[in-house]
Amino acid sequence: MVYKVADISLAAFGRKEIELAENEMPGLMYMREKYGASKPLKGARIAGCLHMTIQTAVLIETLSALGAEVSWSSCNIFSTQDHAAAAIAATGVPYPQYLAGIRGLSEETTTGVHHLYRPAINVNDSVTKSKFDNYYGCRESLVDGIKRATDVMLAGKVAVVAGFGDVGKGCAQSLAAYGARVIVTEIDPINALQAAMAGYEVATMEDAAPRANVFVTTTGNRDIIRGEHFLVMPEDAIVSNIGHFDVEIDVAWLKANAKSVVNIKPQVDRYTMPSGRHILLLAEGRLVNLGCATGHPSFVMSFSFTNQVLAQIALWTNNSAFPLGVHMLPKELDEEVARAHLKQLNVKLTTLSNEQSKYLDIPVSGPYKPAHYRY
Ligand code: NAD
Ligand code: ADE
Repeated sequence: MVYKVADISLAAFGRKEIELAENEMPGLMYMREKYGASKPLKGARIAGCLHMTIQTAVLIETLSALGAEVSWSSCNIFSTQDHAAAAIAATGVPYPQYLAGIRGLSEETTTGVHHLYRPAINVNDSVTKSKFDNYYGCRESLVDGIKRATDVMLAGKVAVVAGFGDVGKGCAQSLAAYGARVIVTEIDPINALQAAMAGYEVATMEDAAPRANVFVTTTGNRDIIRGEHFLVMPEDAIVSNIGHFDVEIDVAWLKANAKSVVNIKPQVDRYTMPSGRHILLLAEGRLVNLGCATGHPSFVMSFSFTNQVLAQIALWTNNSAFPLGVHMLPKELDEEVARAHLKQLNVKLTTLSNEQSKYLDIPVSGPYKPAHYRY
């Protein structure tokens, strides 16, 4: 078998956690039930590159159950869960070489969608991805990461959230729920207004840096926390990123200008500044929820990954419908993803009456809102 994992003996532990996660991923189980027999991905070779977590393992096994030949690699140096990688390697899924004959790809992240120049499906902007994974997922996994790393009491602390998009909204709400006093920074006047109307102070990083104890970047942009900000932060300020890659925080500046650094434990580094004050940098400026914790919970990843499976089926079985460019999944499929998760939450959906359907000019079976509706 061809694979590269840290410790293959962890496969049995990984398998137990995969089984637990399956019960929390009803969308993926629905895909297996609906398409397991017809195997629409038969003949497709799918090379995936995403955090190798337990949730990703359930995605990989769903793609395999639908007939695909899957190979996988991780996309982040800190996010691999060794028992998940071992369990998947033990089933014979290898790590990939570049393969000929790829028909297209499906992209999950907000920043990633800016870089697509080939036929692709933008999974990020499915409502059941960005309005759930980015928002509710980060609402739970941000604080999980900060707490596992530092055990800090958040109540009463001042926290800065840079960016008030889907991720920033979830992070700000979670920090506020713990009693942190949240300051938001934004470049977009609409998002800034949303933050103000939600009750947050909106300020610049220059204003906030000397006052804040916890920093979280969520912008998908670069150079959000820079040298001049590090220099004025209070003692033991916690600095973390849940947005994009390790460029949101200028880690290079910190490394070059700090007097010294002590590694407290994996992914927690305490830098001493020239002033003698300290800064706690989490996950070396990479994604704190995956570097210091285990990422989003299974249930919300089921939303994202059901979209991924649907995107792969669409690209493989209906490839001629996708000319060069970036495509969205149709609204009906977004609704199907949501529908697949309702039962587990014991949600009772109302059905349009024939009269209501005629009155609104919407079929009883949907789609219910226009594709551009923002939720
Ligand atoms: P978004 O576009 O909805 O939000 C980003 C916000 O940042 C926007 O409102 C934008 O105006 C603001 N912004 C940009 N530059 C800024 C600056 N210099 N200062 C202040 N604000 C600025 O995107 P999103 O869906 O919230 O995703 C944000 C990032 O999080 C992306 O990189 C995405 O890939 C990533 N993401 C991470 C996870 C995770 O699990 N860690 C999950 C989902 C998304
Ligand atoms: N992104 C955020 N959380 C994740 C998880 N648990 N698995 C894979 N990718 C993720």
